[in-house]
Amino acid sequence: MKRNIVWVVMALSTACGSSSEPTPPPTSAAAAPAIPDPAPPQPLGGLAALAPAHFDRAQATLGQRLFFENRLSGDGTLNCSSCHSLDHGGAEDRRVSTGIHGQQGPINAPPVLNAAGNFVQFWDGRAADLEAQAAGPVGNPLEMGASWDTVVTTIAADESYRTAFAALYPGDAAPVTQDHITHAIAEYERMLVTPGRFDRFVGGDASAMTDDERRGYALFTSLGCTSCHTGPNVGGTMYQRMGLVRDWFAQVGRPLTDADNGRFNVTHDEADRHRFKVPTLRNVALTGPYFHDGSAATLTDAVRTMGAFQLGRDLTDEQIRLLVAFLGTLTGDVPADARPAAAEDTTATPPAPSPATTEPPIPPGGPRS
Ligand code: HEC
Ligand code: HEC
Repeated sequence: MKRNIVWVVMALSTACGSSSEPTPPPTSAAAAPAIPDPAPPQPLGGLAALAPAHFDRAQATLGQRLFFENRLSGDGTLNCSSCHSLDHGGAEDRRVSTGIHGQQGPINAPPVLNAAGNFVQFWDGRAADLEAQAAGPVGNPLEMGASWDTVVTTIAADESYRTAFAALYPGDAAPVTQDHITHAIAEYERMLVTPGRFDRFVGGDASAMTDDERRGYALFTSLGCTSCHTGPNVGGTMYQRMGLVRDWFAQVGRPLTDADNGRFNVTHDEADRHRFKVPTLRNVALTGPYFHDGSAATLTDAVRTMGAFQLGRDLTDEQIRLLVAFLGTLTGDVPADARPAAAEDTTATPPAPSPATTEPPIPPGGPRS
């Protein structure tokens, strides 16, 4: 609904004679202006304001507790936020993940913030939705290294969890199940939508972005970044080859891994080798290092690489500076009530037992700070 309104606004303002036209295809190189005029306050190139996802608040609150629950890991040391920190844009501060017993995983953790808006989950799209995704890390020996049978037994043995599941998933003799746990976590993730300055700008508040940010935005669309990074998530709508125009994998300077195969690992179709879900650029200023292998340390590196290998353009330092400035406007606010209470934070200390835990801490429509 909200999104429709945004699109109507866009159609109207385009009809009123805007001079900036979006998105030439990425490989038709020459025409984009070196430094364009600031973009007008409207969505270009298929970008759009973020719309909140639908979720049940009480189930999301239960999911929040589970997201920060160390008992979901085999040795009680990790929870979802160990690799998806809300303070790091929902991603991690490392090239690749570290699972239980310090084991290095094969790939960089993408952000959970706004993940609900992605068309599929994981770099290779092997999970259709957040529920299917959440089933993965718990049993993955390189990540949380637990078994779902053990996790279900442990959670069901906790009186406060048992009561909450019985209230929120009624009609089941044993309400604590893997499906209900992953559903509650997915409901919580649907809370994690982070509108920011860009959304205020395309909603009509011209002062929400500086001139340089608006130039970067015009450049982002005129160069053709939006042919892949599009939609409200500025990504998460398609698979594309890493190294579309120039061969990126030929110059990585390390042996290739299974993780580098991307979508091929799911389809075994040669055409899918090195194709990845185009990542969201929401909060990208916070989520480095970048790319599926974490090989780009800074946003400047990542943008330079994108220009060269996805568009066949050697961007100037000034173009890169403006693009990075624009990307900063995609940093948004995590809803205050999605943050954990201090005692539930990410360390190995189990949450302090509380007499009030039979009730989810925030009732539907309840108090917010
Ligand atoms: C040990 C680190 C680690 C832990 C713990 C972990 N994840 Fe992840 N997560 C990753 C990695 C790495 C990926 C990417 C894997 C891939 O694409 O093959 C990922 C991918 C995801 C994605 C997909 C996002 C996208 O854009 O595709 C979501 C959502 C997610 N994790 C949620 C969770 C939840 C919920 C939990 C807790 C049940 C969790 N993660 C626990 C490392 C971790
Ligand atoms: C042909 C499609 C395509 C085009 C065009 C494209 N990208 Fe990308 N972008 C991708 C893919 C695919 C990835 C993931 C690559 C990987 O991880 O190996 C990516 C990753 C990124 C990342 C890193 C995100 C992260 O979380 O790791 C940034 C930043 C980025 N792109 C910015 C841009 C900018 C700026 C432009 C325009 C100059 C652009 N992209 C053009 C497909 C594209």
